[in-house]
Amino acid sequence: MRQSTSALALFMGAVAAFQCSSFKTTITVSAPFYQPAFAPFANHYQSVALLNAVTARDASTAASPFKGAVNVVETFSISAEYCTPTAYQHPAHLDVQILTHGLGFDKSYWRSGGDSSGYNYVRAATDAGYATLSYDRISNGGSSLVDPYTIQQAPIQLAVLEAITSNYRNGTIHPSVPKPSGKVFHVGHSYGSILSHALVATNPSLSDGIVLTGYSTNTTWLGEFLISTDFHLAKENQPQRFGNRSAGFVTWPDELANQYIFLSYPHFDAAVLAYAETHKYPFSVSEVLTGGVVPYNAANFSKPVLMISGDADLIFCGSDCHGILEQAAPLFPGAKPFETYVQPDTGHGMNLHYNASGTYAVIQRFLKDNA
Ligand SMILES: *[C@@H]1O[C@H](CO)[C@@H](O)[C@H](O)[C@H]1NC(C)=O
Ligand SMILES: *[C@@H]1O[C@H](CO)[C@@H](O)[C@H](O)[C@H]1NC(C)=O
Ligand SMILES: *[C@@H]1O[C@H](CO)[C@@H](O)[C@H](O)[C@H]1NC(C)=O
Ligand SMILES: *[C@@H]1O[C@H](CO)[C@@H](O)[C@H](O)[C@H]1NC(C)=O
Ligand SMILES: *[C@@H]1O[C@H](CO)[C@@H](O)[C@H](O)[C@H]1NC(C)=O
Repeated sequence: MRQSTSALALFMGAVAAFQCSSFKTTITVSAPFYQPAFAPFANHYQSVALLNAVTARDASTAASPFKGAVNVVETFSISAEYCTPTAYQHPAHLDVQILTHGLGFDKSYWRSGGDSSGYNYVRAATDAGYATLSYDRISNGGSSLVDPYTIQQAPIQLAVLEAITSNYRNGTIHPSVPKPSGKVFHVGHSYGSILSHALVATNPSLSDGIVLTGYSTNTTWLGEFLISTDFHLAKENQPQRFGNRSAGFVTWPDELANQYIFLSYPHFDAAVLAYAETHKYPFSVSEVLTGGVVPYNAANFSKPVLMISGDADLIFCGSDCHGILEQAAPLFPGAKPFETYVQPDTGHGMNLHYNASGTYAVIQRFLKDNA
């Protein structure tokens, strides 16, 4: 167990502080994957050719890039981190937020900028009296590296989130993490919001409330994201970090593509963008293309739902979120309440903008008021 209470925050005399334990937990899931109809990439010309195919004018009527589903049982090592407010002596009684990051990051997305930073979501949540449980989605950060074509798909990642939640709820995730007696919320960013949404559509009893950030259910602008990445092979793009990876892991080319996808100028610090680019993680073609196969009808979920995105979110709103987030309301007919919030001066990577703390305050307020 690593204590990472911020020495800097204490030095600066900050009243609030948090402590974290990092750990690995082994989980086994049983879930379907879809067999790719395309061959593994032998070179970067083949990844770009697949991008041509899936963004073509006739893509919606062309043959699917996937064949039938096959069920598998897989065991993964998941790298996770549990954080609690230092002042609080009974962490089991705390309400917790389970944090699922999106494409291009690992769980450090939730601790952007370091412990004393206003970009740090974990700090904002623990200051508000919550525990947090963040984890690296498979093939990111310290979690198991898996086959990007077959295993790195949405249904398997949904099963991972289900297993982490169940194990946490029944107190078996790790000896350093107590069995909770409080509420268990799920907060996602982007792909992590897809998974958090699908979790309550699949298994509504596992969550006491969800917050979906950097997300909508309108996929009209997904192609702009895909095209802007140009499906660069991660092993060629950052050979020092990803040189040994399968060609099935891809990424966008550079800092300016990162800005185009994630940030709204001039509402970010160039140093934050540079850090995000050098510390990025690749994604798999299969995970983006199977995002639509998990369940979205959350008719049986009766707990609070907040959808909050930056006004300039490119991927999920075509850079203007007004009027888009509420399109998801029919998928949450039983939510009490269902609310949307458009955060000003913010792009898709919400935690990387100057007013990240404004976003965080809206989320903590929503959970306090409604759950
Ligand atoms: C905890 O939950 C997991 C996943 O549902 C299950 O496999 C395990 O048997 C449960 N353990 C206990 C002690 O309930
Ligand atoms: C996406 O939003 C646009 C703009 O409001 C709308 O015209 C379109 O019908 C929406 N698409 C879906 C699939 O909801
Ligand atoms: C690639 O794998 C080799 C052999 O396991 C290892 O020595 C090397 O450090 C790895 N390189 C990278 C970039 O991961
Ligand atoms: C809601 O729950 C009912 C009863 O278990 C079930 O029949 C129905 O399929 C569920 N609806 C959805 C959308 O999951
Ligand atoms: C920061 O975000 C909050 C929450 O949306 C908002 O109330 C506040 O006006 C924003 N601050 C600035 C300087 O834009």
